[in-house]
Amino acid sequence: MTEKKTFHITTFGCQMNEHDSEIMAGMLIEKGYEPVEDRDTANIVIFNTCSIRENADKRFFGTLGQLKRRKTEEKEAFTVCVCGCMMQQQHIVDQLKSKYPWVDVVFGTHNLHKLPNLLDNLYKEKKKQLEIWEDRDAIVEDLPAKRLFKHKSFVNIMYGCNNFCSYCIVPYTRGRERSRNPFDIVKEVYALAKDGVKEITLLGQNVNSYKGEGADFTDLIYMLNEVDGIQRIRFMTSHPKDLSDKLIEAFKKCDKLCKYIHLPVQSGSDKVLKEMNRKYTREAYLSLVEKIRKAVPEIAISTDIIVGFPGETEADFEDTLDLARQVQYDSAFTFLYSTRKGTPAAQREDQIPEEVKHQRFNRLVDVINESSAGKNRGYIGKTVDVLIDSVSRNKIGTYEGRSDSFKLVNLIGKDIVDGSIVPVKITGANTFSLTGEIIKNTK
Ligand code: SAH
Ligand code: SF4
Ligand code: F3S
Repeated sequence: MTEKKTFHITTFGCQMNEHDSEIMAGMLIEKGYEPVEDRDTANIVIFNTCSIRENADKRFFGTLGQLKRRKTEEKEAFTVCVCGCMMQQQHIVDQLKSKYPWVDVVFGTHNLHKLPNLLDNLYKEKKKQLEIWEDRDAIVEDLPAKRLFKHKSFVNIMYGCNNFCSYCIVPYTRGRERSRNPFDIVKEVYALAKDGVKEITLLGQNVNSYKGEGADFTDLIYMLNEVDGIQRIRFMTSHPKDLSDKLIEAFKKCDKLCKYIHLPVQSGSDKVLKEMNRKYTREAYLSLVEKIRKAVPEIAISTDIIVGFPGETEADFEDTLDLARQVQYDSAFTFLYSTRKGTPAAQREDQIPEEVKHQRFNRLVDVINESSAGKNRGYIGKTVDVLIDSVSRNKIGTYEGRSDSFKLVNLIGKDIVDGSIVPVKITGANTFSLTGEIIKNTK
């Protein structure tokens, strides 16, 4: 290869995918490729796909289709790669082969680290590269990553999922649970701190079932709490069935552990929860929330809720509304149930009509927004520490950042450096964010 090749990655889906894209970017930069912001100017275009819901599939195929013309015109000078969760599903790969035969490189979630090799082979052999691995135990360490932010970073602590919720595709696309060695994680976090990272977000589909050699999830948090330079520790996502008292205690003892927890409930109906294979009841969930709030009163709680799971009756749905009202979430991701081929729930005949799903969805969003707005109003007059992420795109403030409790805060200030932590007096609140004024500069 003579001239310098440029690349662009489009990422669909969750933080796991975002972080995988950062790793792919890191590997490509190490190989001498250059990242560019505009997809149309890149020699290599990569799509990191998600299969969680049908609209994710559709959005990907729509965007991919737009590249056919450029590929036909530019041929070998333009490389198209696709990877990620969708590629771990055989029917998708078949569809890709038959309808998009011009795609150059296809790989899955288990062999992400092979990307540089696959590109080399493509250019050497002048032949399409398709390499998808079945579930693997091995974890590849020490891959470089090009972080989106200088001052904060994702850290994978485990991969895969063993829970098999009946609606969910993730256990099929990401394989079985496997945890990284705690010392590899600590080593990575020390290196990140040395590189200026202040906030880490520990990633996994179910972080509290982390089982490293000699350390469970909470042990790991205690270890990371000791790393100088790291000022905030967050994690995503925890399954209610695995949330231990030991972890709740850690919120009090580890000063760097942010007072925020994302605790997906999915439904407020015991019947639906059982059919979803969530392994907890409504009561168990509600007492867990109570226990957390008793231990850490200022904690912010968010959730995921699915509406229109097969067989969901109006009464089931009202149980969900009722639970949401009781918990008073800080925020929630609400989803229309989407049939995923290969999952048990997809085979059910009692699917809910789209218009019923939509109508329930809107009713749920109203309840959630009301509680979010209420929670946010409670911040007015208080002072919170905000980690500045960037100059705000929003007109209200000049800068934006996140509070310890993960609230988006827009604030007015001058000459604030990205990544600084500033005390902010909250002066206004709406459904999705807070506004405030800096009371004195940087910590
Ligand atoms: N491992 C995490 C979340 C993974 S996916 C957890 O269990 O909490 C993120 C969210 O997508 C899930 O919490 C769920 O609410 C939603 N989701 C998953 N499969 C879905 C489907 N088939 N239809 C609609 N929403 C779905
Ligand atoms: Fe999917 Fe359930 Fe695993 Fe979350 S815990 S990734 S919802 S199977
Ligand atoms: Fe999507 Fe895969 Fe994440 S299906 S939500 S990108 S684990």
